[in-house]
Parts: sequence; C-alpha cells; structure tokens
Amino acid sequence: MRHTQLIVGNWKMNGTIAGARKLASTIVEGARGKPATVVLCPPFTLIRDVADVTRGVATVVGGQDCHSAAKGAYTGDISAEMLRDLACEYVIVGHSERRNGHGETSAQVKAKAEAAQQAELKTIICVGETLEERKSGAHQASVRRQIEESIPAAASAENTVIAYEPVWAIGTGEVATLEDIAEMHRYIKTLIPGNIYVIYGGSVKAASAYEILALPEVDGVLVGGASLEPKEFLAIIAASVRT
Ligand code: PGA
Repeated sequence: MRHTQLIVGNWKMNGTIAGARKLASTIVEGARGKPATVVLCPPFTLIRDVADVTRGVATVVGGQDCHSAAKGAYTGDISAEMLRDLACEYVIVGHSERRNGHGETSAQVKAKAEAAQQAELKTIICVGETLEERKSGAHQASVRRQIEESIPAAASAENTVIAYEPVWAIGTGEVATLEDIAEMHRYIKTLIPGNIYVIYGGSVKAASAYEILALPEVDGVLVGGASLEPKEFLAIIAASVRT
C-alpha cells in the first residue's frame, strides 16, 4: 500500500470572501472521498472563511507564510500561533516569491519553520534552483544548500514537508521534465531524514498532474495558478494515487 499524497493549493494574493467561500466549497465537495490530503492556503484575510467551510471535512487549511517570533512589534506580520488559532494545520515557508520578493534568507526560513513547529503547524518548506543554476549544472548544489540552511534540526515526517519548486517553473507554464523532477526528488530524499514528503511545484496543471503524481519519488504537488480554478484543481486531486 502506498501512502496518501498531499495536494496543496497556494492561492497567493487572490480572492475575496464570497469567491473564497465558493471556491473552497466546490473543492471540499469534489475532494470528498478522494485518496489525497488536500490543503488550501488562502491569503490571511480569507483563512477564517475557508476554515469555516472546511470544518469537519478532510480538506484542511494552511497559511502562506509566518513570522519567526510568536508575537511582538512586527507590523504587518502574522505569527504561527495566530495561524494555529485560525485552525490552520499547515504553513508554507520559504516560497521563492518570499525569498526573492522579500529577500528572505534560508536562515530566516529556518527560524520561521522552527516557530511553525513550536505552534504545532506542519511546515511546507520550499526550495528550488534558478534557471541559471539549472543551466550551469549547479541545481543540485543550490537545492542542497537551501535544504541544509532552511530545515530545522527537529524536522521529521510528522512536522515537515519539502516542496521542490524550480524558480523558473513557477507561474511560467514551464514544467520541469519528469526525469528532472524524479532525479531531484531522489536527490532531496538523500539529504533529509526519514520519510519526509517531497512534493513538486511549478506550473502543475490538470494535464501534467497525472504523470507527475505517478512518479514514485513524488509525494504530492504544490499548485499555484491552477488551484484557483476548481475544475483544474479537482482534476489534479483526482490524479493523485496512493503511494
Ligand atoms: P504555479 O505556482 O502553479 O502557479 O506555478 C506554484 C507555486 O508558486 O507554489
């Protein structure tokens, strides 16, 4: 028997209350009984509404980021405890849009992951190489460095998921080849303890999900754009297999 795959929807900075409730309801309905763990990560403003819709069902909610401190004078930030208080079970940290757009270092990502673990959130830690690194053959070294510097010592399969997201594949429509995905997932699994899940992200669509999720090295997917389209996202959930 293979294990349950993780299908994460990263809504990024999209959605209003009415639209989010509708999208979440459609996904909850369509995902019912499917052999996957489905996580919806809406923007902070919509977490409460999405959590309301997912209360008592298998689909769960997560945040897209958190601060490394539990509380304090950090204007505009949100702590892991606050996410937990809103019934979140997961939080994404180290997304490339945070690393690049907000200058987050791997040390900061690690501190956020530690805070998330303290708050008993499962942490989805993102890593991935740039196009230049891929072209020059430095992709494994880049990912290894991010893994070594971003993952807390206490990381385990219970509290951590690694998302491999090649930066050049995010929001671009460019998907890494199946061979490249399998190779990098195998490589990442040699660097991390135990049975920590490694999921793939970067322009995953319904059309590509089945083949990606069928790779034995892939424990799930992190989906951006396509997670806002119910038909697409439900088809991705349906493509998941027990691994
Ligand atoms: P994308 O985003 O599916 O739109 O490429 C993935 C992500 O950023 O997690």
